[in-house]
Amino acid sequence: MRIAVLGDLHFIAPDDPFKKIHSRRKHFAQAWPSAQRIFAKIRDAAPDLVISLGDLVDYYSKENRDFALELLGEIQCPWFVTPGNHDFETYSAQLGSTPTKCMSASDCEETATAAWAERGIELQNRLIDAGDTGILLVNSACSTVSDGTREWLNDMLPQHPRNILFTHTPLDQPEIRSLILNQNPKRNLKKYVQSGAPWVYEDCIRGQVEQAFFGHLHFADALKLNGTHMYFRGLSIMAAGREYDRMGEAMILDIDNHSTPSILTC
Ligand SMILES: [Fe+2]
Repeated sequence: MRIAVLGDLHFIAPDDPFKKIHSRRKHFAQAWPSAQRIFAKIRDAAPDLVISLGDLVDYYSKENRDFALELLGEIQCPWFVTPGNHDFETYSAQLGSTPTKCMSASDCEETATAAWAERGIELQNRLIDAGDTGILLVNSACSTVSDGTREWLNDMLPQHPRNILFTHTPLDQPEIRSLILNQNPKRNLKKYVQSGAPWVYEDCIRGQVEQAFFGHLHFADALKLNGTHMYFRGLSIMAAGREYDRMGEAMILDIDNHSTPSILTC
């Protein structure tokens, strides 16, 4: 089985109503055509499955959601997503003033999850059975994991001889904290690792997961930790300006072949 792994996309729909946000976030609002280029390359590569590491949208709105689904449909391949914080965060319209952002993805998680489900998009923890491989999608959008995740992982991990983890926020391990701070010493680690669930690696993942994929950081890097190959994925859009002036990319992973994953660029 070949899997295309998408990093953060941060789509903002041209018809989304929060126009003041579009100008403030134009590095993302103008980036979506670059995703169409990478989606065409993925379509040509014909993977069996696409997995998004979350932040499909820059903030939840009905228009952004529907736009993301329309663009992802261009890949013409089954796809799954594990949610990112931006898939939950939203703005509330206030008459005559600038839209106000919900400060925390956790404030908006329940409402946004229901709204994604209206279009058939499931965001909770899930196991995909890929023969001898378990593909685990874990919701870490709020820099923690959902209630019951420990028990769920302990049930799911023994079901396959090998497992691959996909989640938005990197695990909270000292080696991962160092990797992030080496890229940017100002990164807030409360937000950029699973600081609300520091037990996940030692209690569940260690020795049981062959590969792990993370989004959220907007840079690409890799690390091998006690037998687990960890991949930190960059954006899958080319977001010009600010610190985001890097090439967007996607990774093609062949889970039946232990070769190094290949990279597609925008
Ligand atoms: Fe994120």
